[in-house]
Order: sequence, then C-alpha cells, then structure tokens
Amino acid sequence: MKFFLDTADLAEIEEAASWGALAGVTTNPSLYARVGGKLADFPKHIARICELVDGPVSAETVAMTRDEIVRDGRELAAIAPNVVVKVPTMVEGLAATRVLADEGIPVNMTLCFTVPQAVLAARAGARYISPFVGRFDDISEDGLAQLDDVVTAIGNYDFTADTVNGEQVEIIAASIRSANHVAQAALMGADIATVPFGILKKCVQHPLTDRGLEAFLKDWEKVQNA
Ligand code: G3P
Repeated sequence: MKFFLDTADLAEIEEAASWGALAGVTTNPSLYARVGGKLADFPKHIARICELVDGPVSAETVAMTRDEIVRDGRELAAIAPNVVVKVPTMVEGLAATRVLADEGIPVNMTLCFTVPQAVLAARAGARYISPFVGRFDDISEDGLAQLDDVVTAIGNYDFTADTVNGEQVEIIAASIRSANHVAQAALMGADIATVPFGILKKCVQHPLTDRGLEAFLKDWEKVQNA
C-alpha cells in the first residue's frame, strides 16, 4: 500500500515528503479552504504541491456539468504532469471521466461510497477511486466493511481496457480518521491510503517504540561510560 497525504497544507506536505515514504497528495475544496486558499491562487498552489511531491497530486473540479468538468479538468491537468483530476462520483462526473481518460488525463473519482459507484467509476476510465471510510462511520455505518467490499469488487475484474494507457485502476482509501483505518486498509489490500498529516504521524509512533528507544539510549550511555 502506498501513502498519500490528504491535505493542501504546504508545510505538512514538505515535512511528510522529507520522511521518504510519501507517494502522492490528495486535496479537495474543503482542504484548500482550510489553509485559507483563494480562488486566484489555486493553480499556483497546486503547482507548488506538484513540485514538493514526487507522485500524483489530486486537484478537484467543482463544476456540475460534463462539459464544464472536462474544461476544468483539462485546465488542472495542464498545471503539471503529475496532476490527477479529482471528479465527484455522479452521472456528469462519470461522463467527464470517460472524456478525460480518453484524452490520457488521469482521474480520481471521489465521494465514492458503494460498490456499484466504484465499478462504474472504473468502467468510465478512472485511474483512481476513492471510497470514503470515516464518513460512513460518522453515520454509524461500517466504513471499513464498505472499503473491503470495494477492494474485493474492483479486484474481481480487469479494468485495463478502460483506464488511461491501460494502467490498473487503484483504490485510494480516503476519509481516514485513525491509524487503525490505515492498518485495516493495508490488510484488505487497498492500493493507497490517503492520510491526514496528524494520522500519518500517529502511524509512525508507538509507545513501545518510544520505551524501547529510551532503554537502548540509556544502555548505550552505560557502554560509553564503561
Ligand atoms: O480527500 C477526501 C477525504 O479524504 C475527506 O476526508 O475526513 O473530510 O471525510 P474527510
């Protein structure tokens, strides 16, 4: 499983990229608003993220018709070679994904909550599909079980005839709220987890690691003073 960072915060991206395990970034309108982003600065902001990370960077369209999504998607894709156009799962989004995929522009279909949505997204040519985990949990449903179903269903078929350049569609476990979500996504075989920075830090840490490190350092002092 690869790790993406789910943020539009440049400092977080810079820091996480320096850890050596970051494979991409996903943004969305809410994440851009959270960092105080302004409309006019959006292309520049995405361009900067694309410089900071050596991997796909999802930038989301907010249009509601096929042609407008395609137009915005082309503009976003022109920002940098590693931009992935993020498109909501809806009829117009599927139609736009087909057009963009046929032009060789990779699409991440977002706001995916069900198996039929995911399979339709793959058939429409999506390069990535983002099932949301935490938002199911928010409404007292089992987000991990839904993700597991999507991973299984997509794994049942070969979508290479549908995607950009015959690449295999990849599942991005999104709306991740805990290190356990990350662990379970890896166990069920999700291709990618897109993780908020705070959760990524928690994925690195464990109290037994801290305790063990403390003991090793103390013992090494004894060795030095022996
Ligand atoms: O990138 C989309 C997704 O990860 C959003 O997560 O926490 O707003 O449900 P959340």
